[in-house]
Amino acid sequence: MLLPPIPWLHLLLSLSLSLSLAIQLALSQSFIYNTFKPFHPSNLTTNGITTITNNGILQLTNVSSRQIGRGFYPDPIRFKNPNTQTALSFSTAFVFSIVPKHPKLGGHGLAFTISPTKDFIGAQHSQYLGLVNVTHNGNTSNHLFAVEFDTVQDLDFFDINDNHVGVNINGMKSVNSTKSGFFIDGNVTKQDLCLHCGKKIQAWVDYDGDHHQLNITLSLFSNKPTTPIMSVKVDLSSVFQDFMYVGFSSSTGLLASSHYVFGWSFNMTGYAQSLDLDKFPSLKPLEKNKQGFVIRFAASMFLAISVMIISGVFYVKKKFRNIEVVEDWELDLGPNPYNYKVLKEATKGFNDQQLLGFGGSGKVYKGVLADSKTEIAVKRISEQSKQGQKEFLSEVSTIGRLRHRNLVQLLGWSRNKGELLLIYDYMANGSLDKYIHSGNTPNMILSWEQRFNIIKDVSNGLLYLHEEWEQTVLHRDIKAGNVLLDSQLKGKLGDFGLAKLYEHGSNPTTTKVVGTLGYLAPELTRTGKPTTRSDMYAYGALLLEVVCGRKPIELKASPEELILVDWVWDKWREGRLLEVVDSRLKGEFNEVEVMVVLKVGLMCSSDEHSCRPSIRQVIRYLEGEVSLPKSFGQSCAEI
Ligand SMILES: *[C@@H]1O[C@H](CO)[C@@H](O)[C@H](O)[C@H]1NC(C)=O
Ligand SMILES: *[C@@H]1O[C@H](CO)[C@@H](O)[C@H](O)[C@H]1NC(C)=O
Ligand SMILES: *[C@@H]1O[C@H](CO)[C@@H](O)[C@H](O)[C@H]1NC(C)=O
Ligand SMILES: *[C@@H]1O[C@H](CO)[C@@H](O)[C@H](O)[C@H]1NC(C)=O
Ligand SMILES: *[C@@H]1O[C@H](CO)[C@@H](O)[C@H](O)[C@H]1NC(C)=O
Ligand SMILES: *[C@@H]1O[C@H](CO)[C@@H](O)[C@H](O)[C@H]1NC(C)=O
Ligand SMILES: *[C@@H]1O[C@H](CO)[C@@H](O)[C@H](O)[C@H]1NC(C)=O
Ligand SMILES: *[C@@H]1O[C@H](CO)[C@@H](O)[C@H](O)[C@H]1NC(C)=O
Repeated sequence: MLLPPIPWLHLLLSLSLSLSLAIQLALSQSFIYNTFKPFHPSNLTTNGITTITNNGILQLTNVSSRQIGRGFYPDPIRFKNPNTQTALSFSTAFVFSIVPKHPKLGGHGLAFTISPTKDFIGAQHSQYLGLVNVTHNGNTSNHLFAVEFDTVQDLDFFDINDNHVGVNINGMKSVNSTKSGFFIDGNVTKQDLCLHCGKKIQAWVDYDGDHHQLNITLSLFSNKPTTPIMSVKVDLSSVFQDFMYVGFSSSTGLLASSHYVFGWSFNMTGYAQSLDLDKFPSLKPLEKNKQGFVIRFAASMFLAISVMIISGVFYVKKKFRNIEVVEDWELDLGPNPYNYKVLKEATKGFNDQQLLGFGGSGKVYKGVLADSKTEIAVKRISEQSKQGQKEFLSEVSTIGRLRHRNLVQLLGWSRNKGELLLIYDYMANGSLDKYIHSGNTPNMILSWEQRFNIIKDVSNGLLYLHEEWEQTVLHRDIKAGNVLLDSQLKGKLGDFGLAKLYEHGSNPTTTKVVGTLGYLAPELTRTGKPTTRSDMYAYGALLLEVVCGRKPIELKASPEELILVDWVWDKWREGRLLEVVDSRLKGEFNEVEVMVVLKVGLMCSSDEHSCRPSIRQVIRYLEGEVSLPKSFGQSCAEI
């Protein structure tokens, strides 16, 4: 009998395929990276913002916010005994460092990971470490095993502190965790170990598949201590699939850390070899490099000369072309009373002595119009492309139509080549932040009555933007610095709607999420899509700031006071809410009003955007028209 040829070929082909797979698998039973250089894409899979530094360090993330970085061994590894379907033993050692952008604030950590995927499609950054997302967190279909080195205490995941090691299965809530630390042989006291202090830390993760025992050991040295900091009974048989990928994942949130892995060994057939810490390069080898200095010097000379030449050319050009060209599209925007010359004169040639402040987009000058003696504020925004200017000004003409006693009135605009000028009402008393953060400067401390009035003013301004004008206008950068005070200390919101304009690409420095640290709603960092509720989050932060006399994030404060909202929550839970009130008020305030404002501030600070009240609701609370919900909590369910 003659067999048709195709099945034969097929069989042969699959035989040779499985043979090569078997060889590959046999090879991947153990490996060691003493350096990640030279980097061959074929022997480490990276994704996200991961890079390999020149000196061979795997840099998972840098300090850019809300990023993910991963490095994985490229081939799958068998993690289950095919006959018994039980998890196999494994052992790994690696050396890592976490270096936060703001040492005091920290950032998120990193995780050693065993998973069915190297891509983690749909996984989120920040507290999710690039491993899962909010909807699939904890789902058994994830088949995820991770050891997290976590530097943020996330109460949603019941984290024990902001410096812990945890064993995670299928999600971010650890099955067991312990305070970071290590043992020195011969000493039974656990030594402290700060995970995010930039030290080189060696970690060992050993799993005994027969006894279902998982050990985690840490050290600041090359030799492995005999005592692990964690020894957990856990059967990974149902977590593992036959083949899994091993590697590292880390992410940054609003607060960011750089995550580095210096070396890594892995073994399925015995203990992984420990790594020699002295052999790894240090993280700052690039400085004090003579050659580098010469190059930098030459580069700066070149730059200086180029600038001189270019400015020379511009000077000559200017001499010949001092006449303003009016573009067609400008005429469409309607009449514009302000011409550049008038403004230049009003601000004494944009003299530094006229400077009122620096906005997100440019400098603001005080000016006095020569003929009417009207005081104005002129915001100078430079370096615009032609297209950018056009979009910008058409938006500006919309904003110019907004009129409300609690908004800083935009009076007009002017254009001079690449430069745009926005003209506003002059606010005699400057911005609110100066008063809140004035320390004990006499005459700069606002009484409670003044503060409460300003809060109500701002609320009315925001109500107009959100609900009362013909279309909803998002402010997108509510903060104390954008609340201006007129001569009678009436509060007015400034800079509204402009954030959107900057995003249009007309201002390259503020492209992604617009806003200010400490006022940014958490969902904004995920979705990037601003809403009235993200405005309400910033508004809530502002309320707390005004009552407490403190910035939303105070780098100089003690750790428990670092993040204002969290601190106020803590005090609220302890039933000592009034302790947060600015001590400079010396106890002189209306308790009922203060409590309402603090509670509204907390409600607006809810992580869940649907739990935040609308500005209309808030005004009802502030006016005492309706009473606040009796109990409310950080999670909406309790409201
Ligand atoms: C990575 O590839 C290089 C060159 O092929 C090789 O020398 C090195 O051993 C590989 N490393 C690992 C861990 O497979
Ligand atoms: C971080 O890395 C990404 C990708 O390599 C890069 O685009 C970004 O500029 C880096 N950020 C910082 C702060 O170095
Ligand atoms: C969440 O993650 C799962 C996989 O774990 C993915 O299928 C899903 O699409 C993700 N969801 C979102 C919203 O990205
Ligand atoms: C877990 O994930 C699977 C696959 O994505 C999905 O079908 C299932 O509904 C999820 N289970 C839960 C409890 O979310
Ligand atoms: C053990 O470690 C603790 C904490 O570092 C230290 O105070 C103590 O002196 C050590 N004991 C010995 C016997 O070295
Ligand atoms: C884990 O640690 C315990 C206690 O030190 C030890 O008896 C056990 O052999 C260790 N197991 C592994 C897999 O290293
Ligand atoms: C969690 O870890 C601690 C410290 O290693 C250990 O004492 C405890 O038994 C563990 N708990 C479980 C449920 O494994
Ligand atoms: C893996 O374990 C075996 C047996 O103990 C050992 O000979 C080998 O050197 C180990 N490999 C690595 C990379 O640690």
